[in-house]
Amino acid sequence: MKKIKLSPSALACDFACAGEQIKASKDGGAEYLHLDVMDGIFVPNISFGQPVVKSLSKCCELVSDVHLMITEPIRYIEDFAKAGADIITVHIEACEDVTATLQKIRSLGIKAGLSLKPKTPVESLVPYLELCDLVLVMSVEPGFGGQKFMADMMPKCAFLRDYAAEHGLDYEISVDGGVSAENARLCVESGANVLVAGSSVLGKDDIKKAAEELLAAANQN
Ligand code: DX5
Ligand code: ZN
Repeated sequence: MKKIKLSPSALACDFACAGEQIKASKDGGAEYLHLDVMDGIFVPNISFGQPVVKSLSKCCELVSDVHLMITEPIRYIEDFAKAGADIITVHIEACEDVTATLQKIRSLGIKAGLSLKPKTPVESLVPYLELCDLVLVMSVEPGFGGQKFMADMMPKCAFLRDYAAEHGLDYEISVDGGVSAENARLCVESGANVLVAGSSVLGKDDIKKAAEELLAAANQN
């Protein structure tokens, strides 16, 4: 089984002291840093762009896990590569040419991720899974932090885990939205190994402790 990794979502930071908060999550065991880019069109919210990704990607030496919630992300892949992304995840619903978009990410030496909204069937990812280093299962409607976890998305993780085993593929499976110590184990048992957590980690007063508790819950047998 793959090692379980915590990817705290910077969307929950106080940006006046984001560096310190992210460092605290690293001290609590986080290995990735999830950076949510929103354009106000693909999702009904605007977050931040390349300058913020650039500063945060280098601040704590975490794996920079960039989640693009933008229309036609192929237009900006190079910019986010330059900003320091290690993984770039795009939405299947946002790309006119999914294959070209994933190939473009990989051509820049970056890991390619593919995500889907709650209402999108997981089977729609199948034609592209060979091109994926990570698959991001949304467990809320994308656009905002602090929403309720949709446990009924977990069969998507199980499908992806079984598909990888049957077809000899090796992508990571990530869950994003409403993840907390209460449901982290369910995510892992469903096949996920990367847990994105905003409000339950970077939104807490004691960030290090929150990260430790989430990871302990995820690793519990
Ligand atoms: C939602 C974003 C998430 C969000 C998660 O569109 O993709 O990454 O920051 O925040 P929480 O963990 O608070 O649901
Ligand atoms: Zn996200």
